[in-house]
Amino acid sequence: MLRTKKGGEKNEILKLIVLSMMAVGLLFSFAFAGDAAKGKALFNDAKLSGATAGKSCNSCHADGKGLDAFKKEFMGGKAKSIEDATNMCITMMMKGKALDAKSADMANIVAYIKSVKGK
Ligand code: HEC
Repeated sequence: MLRTKKGGEKNEILKLIVLSMMAVGLLFSFAFAGDAAKGKALFNDAKLSGATAGKSCNSCHADGKGLDAFKKEFMGGKAKSIEDATNMCITMMMKGKALDAKSADMANIVAYIKSVKGK
């Protein structure tokens, strides 16, 4: 196909639009992906979300070992997601308040659990 000069400019503009959309997308994924280092601190915090049982996630799941964030089912099917399973542990095991599944704290805890997979 023959490209006119005008068509070429249109392609450049399109490329620019696609590139800037990708940049924005990348920014958003960084903002919401969760921070494993922050998650590790929360994982070791016995007072997480008002917990009073004196235990952190780490007391029972040392260094996240054995937890697999990439499974399809948690708690033998009683929890639909890792966020659900985490909230079950926070409320039942730690006597804390459930975290908003979409909160930064939850994203950070999940990022930490993902980061220790296979270790
Ligand atoms: C008092 C001990 C205890 C504490 C504290 C605890 N858990 Fe658990 N957790 C368990 C037990 C017991 C299970 C169910 C058995 C299993 O699968 O390991 C479980 C299961 C889970 C599961 C699901 C595992 C699976 O494969 O189905 C996740 C995810 C999890 N815990 C994360 C956390 C996180 C995150 C914290 C801290 C916010 C936490 N737990 C605190 C004992 C604890």
